[in-house]
Amino acid sequence: MTGDPLSTIVLATSVATAAYIVAGLLFILALAGLSKHETSRRGVVYGIAGMTIALVATVIAVGATSTLFPQGMLGMVLLIVAVIVGGAIGLWRARRVEMTGMPELIALLHSFVGLAAVLVGWNGALYDTGLDGALADIHHAEVFIGVFIGAVTFTGSIVAFLKLSARMPSKPLMLPGKNALNIGALIAFVALTVWYVITPELWLLIVVTVLALALGWHLVASIGGGDMPVVVSMLNSYSGWAAAAAGFLLNNDLLIVTGALVGSSGAYLSYIMCKAMNRSFLSVIAGGFGIEAPTKGDEETGEHREIDASSVAEMLANASSVVITPGYGMAVAQAQYPVAELTHQLRERGVNVRFGIHPVAGRLPGHMNVLLAEARVPYDIVLEMDEINDELADTTVVLVIGANDTVNPAAAEDPGSPIAGMPVLRVWEAENVVVFKRSMAAGYAGVQNPLFFRENTQMLFGDAREKVDEILRAL
Ligand code: TAP
Repeated sequence: MTGDPLSTIVLATSVATAAYIVAGLLFILALAGLSKHETSRRGVVYGIAGMTIALVATVIAVGATSTLFPQGMLGMVLLIVAVIVGGAIGLWRARRVEMTGMPELIALLHSFVGLAAVLVGWNGALYDTGLDGALADIHHAEVFIGVFIGAVTFTGSIVAFLKLSARMPSKPLMLPGKNALNIGALIAFVALTVWYVITPELWLLIVVTVLALALGWHLVASIGGGDMPVVVSMLNSYSGWAAAAAGFLLNNDLLIVTGALVGSSGAYLSYIMCKAMNRSFLSVIAGGFGIEAPTKGDEETGEHREIDASSVAEMLANASSVVITPGYGMAVAQAQYPVAELTHQLRERGVNVRFGIHPVAGRLPGHMNVLLAEARVPYDIVLEMDEINDELADTTVVLVIGANDTVNPAAAEDPGSPIAGMPVLRVWEAENVVVFKRSMAAGYAGVQNPLFFRENTQMLFGDAREKVDEILRAL
């Protein structure tokens, strides 16, 4: 570097720009790597490398500026403190989080992106850019749109976090005229944007911030528990667009590229999940638009029958085929290890054992597959819902281990159910069904499950791990 501070800054900025391009490419490679099991580790390494390069480049760029202005030094100090504090909190949370808590942690992280976009937008509004004419109009539109997307993402993600962590009921909020409220808020946003571009007064920005905070809260509160997986990926997409909006304001190409990558991949993932769960994509992104209040409550629907572990062991020993459908409860109980052992023992006795995996079983995509792989269950007996559904009618025993919503016949048979239309594992078609759970409590979507009262269903109450251990001892 030369001694001239101005050329030092020019050089540092060019280095940062080049580094941002490399980081952007690494993020694209990371996404490509994460799309397949075999390359996912490599994808994560690309992502870490991209983020490290981006951080170092930013520190270099800010460091060079700090040599010129007294306040630049303050920027450098703030940056280093922010990196240390943020890095320490991130490391602490990531090391402590249970796999079942991942979606809520992700939802919380999305809320930070939303909040950052709001703060960047407000900073853009308060800071005099010296622009005029069309450039100033574009700047004002960027500020307004950035604050709006950021605020919707912020409160939406907080509600998702509260619902996922059971601090708020997962049932959809059904305000009267909720669709009109959402559409009204969107129309008001468009009108306010035009107004703000013509006369950029601060009170308009305050109004849009409050409006977007309320809209974000309402959008996600209106979506029921069963649709939460889609909501999390939708918020992922919103957080990407919020970051891209902040990138335009900060003139930061990397934020624009990364934001657009996250925004579009999140939107595509939401679309795939909606298709898998037979949900309308537009309805979910519009806060359950068009979804009416369920016509039924979750009252009990009959008598249930109980069974003990030794009787289940006897039933299994005499079965010719067994299908295990695991769910969130298997993850909570960490029952995958005894389940793998049970599978092994039954297979040794000549029983045909397979697993049926619902696409949203558990709390994150692929949750059950990861747990079963961890316990070394062979891949070839772990089947997707569509692969196993037609074979359930010819199965002697289905063991429903800690699953509830994903095996609920109401989804297939009751058009008034809040989860109507969601594809489910048709376990009730089997000769015998044993449901492992601790009580008669509803599943994540808060909907009663008529499976528990069917003639061929018996309940095995208790912690799933303890019960599978008891069955193993009895066998
Ligand atoms: P859930 O419907 O959540 O039901 C899990 C069941 O496990 C509960 O009924 C619970 O009953 C039982 N359980 C909990 N701890 C247990 C333990 N230690 N031993 C035995 N049983 C236990 O599970 P699911 O069928 O996997 O469905 C997943 C739900 O989560 C869906 O509604 C889905 O939309 C939603 N969701 C999924 C995702 C993704 S991407 N997979 C993300 C967010 C939300 P007890 O309390 O009576 O024991």
